[in-house]
Amino acid sequence: MSKILVTGGCGYIGSHTIVELQQAGFEVVSIDDNSCSEPWVMDRVQNITGISCTNHPINLCDMPALRAFFAAHTDISGVIHFAAFKSVGESSTNPLKYFYNNLLGQINLMQCVQDFKIPHLVFSSSCTVYGNPEQLPVTEESPMQEPESPYGRTKVIGEAMLRDLVKVAPVQVIALRYFNPVGAHPTNEIGEYILGVPSYLLPYITQTAIGKREKLTVFGGDYPTRDGTCIRDYIHVCDIARAHVNAIQYLQRGAAQAAFEVFNLGSGLGQTVLEMIASFEKVTGLKLNYQVGDRRAGDVVAVYANNRKAREVLGWELQFDLDAMMATSWAWEQRLARE
Ligand code: UD1
Repeated sequence: MSKILVTGGCGYIGSHTIVELQQAGFEVVSIDDNSCSEPWVMDRVQNITGISCTNHPINLCDMPALRAFFAAHTDISGVIHFAAFKSVGESSTNPLKYFYNNLLGQINLMQCVQDFKIPHLVFSSSCTVYGNPEQLPVTEESPMQEPESPYGRTKVIGEAMLRDLVKVAPVQVIALRYFNPVGAHPTNEIGEYILGVPSYLLPYITQTAIGKREKLTVFGGDYPTRDGTCIRDYIHVCDIARAHVNAIQYLQRGAAQAAFEVFNLGSGLGQTVLEMIASFEKVTGLKLNYQVGDRRAGDVVAVYANNRKAREVLGWELQFDLDAMMATSWAWEQRLARE
């Protein structure tokens, strides 16, 4: 059995990925300092899979601790790196916090990957690297643009550092560019924990519907789109998670075409904000309190993925449609309200 290290394993995408890895037969160990997550998420993972996963509460910026971890786990055959701060707004007010944590953490991890000769690494990147694209859908060859936030910059730099690392270290790397991950595990055991007021659309919708927020503001109704609201590519978190298993399996069977490859992880469909609201109302039978307001600074008009490369090269299959994204998001919000 192959042992995979997941960094950020107690987080939203990390925890769902551990489930998929365990169900695919991988042994998994996690590093997560729980600065933005709860340690008992691992119990929930075990509730789903029946398999335990040990989390080591190490901060990736603590190089001595990280090195000691790798020295004690010489059987790790691959790393999936999620652990990073992800609040776009906070990154703009405190860029150094993001540069320090996300970049130094990644540098330390890359140093260990190089020193301990770990052959495979999968990196969490983001569609934010495409900025406001000129052509839709975006392919992996679409030009990268100047990042809109320091958070986005850590993803662009993160990819660039890995491109350079593979030239000198015996490691093959896949960067997965996530579009907009939403939804929760169908068992309703794990989902996204939102700290404070959500900035993302779907948690804002579900928190409004449950009564935690009074009203959703739709950011801008005068964009050049079919109904005037922005278009994004929403993708179920379990589909995102499974792509990491596909990526590791692809690397392990020696199929990699290059030492560094990138793949888009999106549904391939673009939804407007109003279409998302309509879909939520249809699936739940609820009426959402919302109004169209001003545009949000930094928002791109429209972005959605061409996901052909991930499907054809990695063998990735999407299993959750928009209705399932809405249904699992809503079930999760209701569970949070009960706890
Ligand atoms: C956000 C980040 C982006 C990051 C991406 C994925 C910002 C400005 N952008 O993008 O950098 O790469 O997540 O992590 O934070 N919306 C509303 N009302 C709300 C919330 C959102 O109308 O209360 C709209 C937004 O204007 C947007 C859509 O819903 O059109 C999705 O918003 P969001 O969930 O924040 O994701 P992104 O804008 O794609």
